[in-house]
Amino acid sequence: MRVFVLKARKAPTDSTPFLASVGQDAHVEILAHALMNALFISKSHRDDVIVHLVLESSRDYSRTITFTASEIGDLGGFAEQALLNAIARALDAARDLKKAAAVEVEAGVKVRALSFEHLIKELSKSYPIYLLDRKGVDIRKVEFAGDVCFLLTDHIPIARKTLNSIKRLGAIKISLGPRMLFAAQCIVLIHNELDR
Ligand SMILES: C[S@@+](CC[C@H](N)C(=O)[O-])C[C@H]1O[C@@H](n2cnc3c(N)ncnc32)[C@H](O)[C@@H]1O
Repeated sequence: MRVFVLKARKAPTDSTPFLASVGQDAHVEILAHALMNALFISKSHRDDVIVHLVLESSRDYSRTITFTASEIGDLGGFAEQALLNAIARALDAARDLKKAAAVEVEAGVKVRALSFEHLIKELSKSYPIYLLDRKGVDIRKVEFAGDVCFLLTDHIPIARKTLNSIKRLGAIKISLGPRMLFAAQCIVLIHNELDR
């Protein structure tokens, strides 16, 4: 299994400001691009992928939206707007979620009122954790065995305190090369390295 976590610091957890943030400061379009590149390939989708989008701009709790590729139905296509709408539907379904509660939105799509830190702690019990960092170990020097989990952010770097807690969970920093890429571009390159 390939697990991707995208921490989106400025992404609103309310669907109206979420959809209004496309192309604005929060750059929520990044979430749609990441979903597209993680889940879909030409004429098909990947079966062995789970994507967790963690939206953190909230009046109460972060929302972790989980897309399980082997279970998802038709999300409405792979156009940016369709994927943004799928995220907005999930946020609407999770509007009044209590802390740590979960809701199934549609096939393969689930939302939890769960923070990035708690999610990573949970994932670290089942997967080796790789933190994407331009200054990390070259991905081509890493031997991946079995299931893997990759952590990415939007345009806002992870706070030092969170970074330290991720390190304590044994996360390894890996690099895809010298250029600073978008998270969605990183996902394409990771898939390609593992595909080969
Ligand atoms: C636009 S970047 C984030 C930029 C952020 N302002 C920063 O300084 O980390 C989005 C994500 O892609 C990752 N990323 C971008 N280029 C990378 C590279 N060459 N190797 C590894 N990860 C990369 C970053 O670590 C981050 O998780």
